[in-house]
Parts: sequence; structure tokens; C-alpha cells
Amino acid sequence: MISRRSFLGQTAGFTFLLAGGRRVWALPPAAETITVFKSRTCGCCADWVDYLKAEGFATVVHDEEEMDMVKDNLGVPAKVRSCHTGQVGKYLVEGHVPAEDIRRMLKEKPAIAGLAAPGMPASAPGMAQPGAPHQPYEVLSFQRDGATEVFARR
Ligand code: CU
Ligand code: CU
Repeated sequence: MISRRSFLGQTAGFTFLLAGGRRVWALPPAAETITVFKSRTCGCCADWVDYLKAEGFATVVHDEEEMDMVKDNLGVPAKVRSCHTGQVGKYLVEGHVPAEDIRRMLKEKPAIAGLAAPGMPASAPGMAQPGAPHQPYEVLSFQRDGATEVFARR
């Protein structure tokens, strides 16, 4: 009797099924994966991660003790810093950046280090309270040297 072994493998970019030596594309390419570094006790960070999942992103979350050190290592300029730091592809996503802006960055592939919603904008995803009046904020693109441009007004 020939035993049939199948193996379901998943990587950041795709999911595949190996069955009887054949590689079968079992699913369409998985959602973009965002790796999120956050402090364990940060509630709004967890809310942003839930928001990303609801928006169809895959997430990998690392709870960190020293977020300043993480941001230093990743190269997040001091003036755009927020609570958590995300990485998607070669880009950084600092703070409560809306999914729509992340998708636009991934599609347009601009020559930037990443996007940031500096500080903690009250109306940004993961921060906004239901029923609260909208408080406008800016999403910035930034370079590692600290140069910024307005990417979106929200
Ligand atoms: Cu936050
Ligand atoms: Cu956060």
C-alpha cells in the first residue's frame, strides 16, 4: 500500500500543499504579512493588530520590553515615533496607520522607509472610540534620515 503524505506549508508569501510529490497551489497568495513589534501591555497596539486582521492582513506579533531600542534598530526617526512599529516587506509602519495607506504604499512602492501616524492620533484605527467626533490627523511618509512628507490626510 502506498502511503500518501501531504504536507501543508505556509510562508509569508504563499500557502502550498505537497501531495504525492506534487506541489499544488491550494490557496491564492496569502494576505500581506505585517510583523508588529509592540509592548505587551499596550492595549491600543493590540487593537490596531485586530484592525489589520479585519482588513485582511496576516500579522506576526512580537511583544518587546524595550520599544525604543527596537525603533533604534529598525531605523524609525525620533520625530515620527508612536507606540508600535510594524514591518511589511521592506517598509516600516509606525503607529496607527490606516490599512488603506499601507495598501497604497505596497501598490505604489514609493522610495520611502515607511509610513507613520506620529504620536497617537485620537481618530486613527485602534485609537478611535465609537461615536467620538473625528479629529483630523496626517499620515506621513518618512525617510531614515527623518525627512517626511504628507502621505494622506485623514
Ligand atoms: Cu497606540
Ligand atoms: Cu500601538
